[in-house]
Amino acid sequence: MQVHDLVARCATAAQGADPMRSVRDVVEGLRGDIDAIERSLAYVSGVGGNARQVFYRSPNLTLLKVRFPNGRRTPPHDHGTWAMILLLSGREKNTLYRREAGGLRKAGEITLERGSILPMLADTAHVAECLGDEPAIGLHVYGGDILELPRRMWNPQTLEEHPLDWTVYETFAQMASKASAAPGD
Ligand SMILES: [Fe+2]
Repeated sequence: MQVHDLVARCATAAQGADPMRSVRDVVEGLRGDIDAIERSLAYVSGVGGNARQVFYRSPNLTLLKVRFPNGRRTPPHDHGTWAMILLLSGREKNTLYRREAGGLRKAGEITLERGSILPMLADTAHVAECLGDEPAIGLHVYGGDILELPRRMWNPQTLEEHPLDWTVYETFAQMASKASAAPGD
């Protein structure tokens, strides 16, 4: 598989009447090809911010390879659209939240392993963290241009809501990574 094959399969699916469903079908079909995806995305480091994670970006679809090293935990954030993670390697715990009038409420958690898929609706916020010594590396698929969509993030200590701002996000991520657990855990 070459990277343009992966992009074409997802981009074609994203043109359908139910893009999240169609892209999910594609991603389900990729679970047996993890070795090939890893090879085709070996050139993407997945660390160092979105600029070094994004390998396809359009108004209705963004594709990233994301690498969370040991000890890394995100602050709660949303994506401004639906999202899907196919974990390629390592183990990644996801804590899921719903936005409610009083703030964020924990809605569940799931630990992803190689081949696991986590779909998230547009109103879902989450915390992702690497479990174990191996980095957690995933293919992340989003139903819009996540570099342009309005998005939210939450202070991991106070759960105060903020517009997603990458300069503040990193400070929040460092606070989140030092904590013993995700908020609400
Ligand atoms: Fe995320």
